[in-house]
Amino acid sequence: MLGGKVKISKVSNKEVAKRNILVHPPEPPLSIIFGDPTNGIFIGRTKILHVPFYWSYENVTNPHIAVVGISGSGKSYFIKTFLLRASFVWNSNGLIIDWAGEYRDWVKETGGKIIALGKGSFLNILDLGGMKPYDRIKQVMRTLELLTDIANYPEQRRLTEQAIEKAYVKNKFRMDSKDQKDEIGKLLLPPTLKDVVKLLEEQASLGNYEFPAEMENAIYRLKQFTKSGEDFFAQQSSVSLDELTTSGLVDLDLSGLPDETFRALGALTILQFIKEKMRATGWAKEKGLRLIIAMDEAWKIAKEENSDAVMIVREGRKYNFGIIVASQNPTDISEAIFSNVGTTFILKVKFERFLDYLQGTLNFSNYMRNEVSKLGVGQAAVNMAFHATSQYPSTFLVDKIEGEEPSKEYFLELGSVLTLKQKRDINMAKSVSFLKEDFRRKVRQYGVTEEKIEEVSKLFEKSNRHIDVVSFVILLERYGLSRRNISDFLKDSGIDDITIINIFGKVDVKKNELGGRDITQVILEE
Ligand SMILES: Nc1ncnc2c1ncn2[C@@H]1O[C@H](COP(=O)(O)OP(=O)(O)OP(=O)(O)O)[C@@H](O)[C@H]1O
Ligand SMILES: [Mg+2]
Repeated sequence: MLGGKVKISKVSNKEVAKRNILVHPPEPPLSIIFGDPTNGIFIGRTKILHVPFYWSYENVTNPHIAVVGISGSGKSYFIKTFLLRASFVWNSNGLIIDWAGEYRDWVKETGGKIIALGKGSFLNILDLGGMKPYDRIKQVMRTLELLTDIANYPEQRRLTEQAIEKAYVKNKFRMDSKDQKDEIGKLLLPPTLKDVVKLLEEQASLGNYEFPAEMENAIYRLKQFTKSGEDFFAQQSSVSLDELTTSGLVDLDLSGLPDETFRALGALTILQFIKEKMRATGWAKEKGLRLIIAMDEAWKIAKEENSDAVMIVREGRKYNFGIIVASQNPTDISEAIFSNVGTTFILKVKFERFLDYLQGTLNFSNYMRNEVSKLGVGQAAVNMAFHATSQYPSTFLVDKIEGEEPSKEYFLELGSVLTLKQKRDINMAKSVSFLKEDFRRKVRQYGVTEEKIEEVSKLFEKSNRHIDVVSFVILLERYGLSRRNISDFLKDSGIDDITIINIFGKVDVKKNELGGRDITQVILEE
C-alpha cells in the first residue's frame, strides 16, 4: 500500500481517463497469462508486454476454443501446435475431424493414428455406442433429417423409423435397454441399413401397403447409403470408439468419402458416440483435458443449433472434454457454440461483415478491430471469457503463435518391397527419412546435378514428401546414376542388403510395366 500512506490529490476525471493505461492495463495480469507452465499450453508471447502466454482454462468459462481467420492466416498451424503440446503437457488425446484429409501426413509423422472412412474403415450408423436402441433411433432420424430431405415427407419418415426399429427387434435387441447381450450372454450384432432396406422391400413386396410411391421413395433414400462400394455406413463397424478417443492423436480422415453428405454423416455419428461415451465416463477430477476434438471447417455440423457438437460443447467442461472449431467464416459457427466457447483465437480477419460479427459477439474495442484486420500470418488476438467480470481486458494480442517448425523431412516408402511378415513386424521400419538438407547433400555427393536435385525435391513436395523407393530408384537411374552408386546410397540410408536386392528386383519388374511412361508422372500418381 504505497508505504502505508495514501496521498490524496485533486485530479479531474478527464485526467484519470487519459491515464487509461493504468486503470485498464493493456493485457490481463500475469496470474492469468503466465499461469503454471506444467498445467498450460504455451502459445506465444503477448504483443505489448512480451509475456509468455500459457493457455489454460482455469479462469475461463469453459475449455472450448474457436479459431477464426482468413485462408492462410494460420488456423491449421495453431491446431497442430495446440494438440501436440496438449499431448505433452496433459497427455490429452486428440481427435481431428479431418474433412479434406489435410492433417493426415502430419498425424502420421507425429506417430498418431489414421482412420480413413471410405478408404477401408467402416462405421455402422446403427451401432448403439452405449445407447438404448430407442434413443439411438431418434438420433439416427435426426441425422437423416439434417442430411437428407426426409423431414419433408412424414409418411416416409414414419416408414423408415419403423423399419429401423424392426431391424433391431429382429436382432433380438430390446428397445429400452442398453444391454446388448442375448440370453446366453453373447453380444448381439446390431443391424445395418442394409437390413433396414431389406425389411422395407419385403414390406413393399407384400403389395398391401396403400402408398407404394412413399414406400419406394423411402427405400430409394436409404439406398444411397447401402450401394455396394458406397456402403461405408451400412456395414459392421471396423472402427472402435475407444480407438478413436484414447489412442493419442487420431486423424479421422473423411476425404475418401464421396461427398459432403457422407462426410457429415461420418462426423456426426462419431460425435454422437463420443457424446454418449463422455456421459458414461462421468465427471473427472484430472489435470488438463482428457480429449480434444478438432473440427476444421466442419461448418455443416457446427452450424446446427441442436447438433451433437453443440451438446458436447455444453457439457464438455465437466468431463474435461474440449472442442476446437476453426473456420474462415465466423458466422458459420453456430451461436450456441460461440456463446459456449471460453477462448477465441482471432487470426487475420478482413471482411467487415465478419469483423462486425466478432466485435458484436466478443465486444472488443475499435482499436482491437483495426489490429485484427492487420494481423500477419500466425499473429492473433485472443479473447477469453473470464469467470468473473474483470478489471482487465478480455482481448489481447499475441505477437506470434510460436509453433513447431513445419516438416523438414522427406520419406522413401519401403512398403512395396517388404514381405507381408515384415510389414506386420512392428520393429521393421516402413520408410526411411532424411532431413531435406541432408537429402540434397547426399544425392549431390553421388553425382546428381543441381537441376535434378531441384526436380526431385519438387517431386517430394508434390507427393506430400513421400515417394515409393522403387520409383525413386528408377528416377535415379534415369538421372544416369549407376546401380553401384544407387546401392551405396540406399545402404548409406540405413536400408539392409536383402531389402536393397528386393528393391532392384522390383525396379526391373516395374520398368517393364512402365514401357515408355514417364516416371515422374507415375510418382505423382502414386
Ligand atoms: N504461427 C505460425 N508460424 C509460422 N508459420 C505459420 C504460422 N501459422 C501459419 N504458418 C504457415 O502459414 C501457412 C498457412 O497456414 P495454415 O495452413 O495454418 O492456414 P489456415 O488458416 O489453416 O488456412 P486455410 O483456411 O486455407 O486452411 C502454412 O504454410 C503454415 O506453415
Ligand atoms: Mg487450414
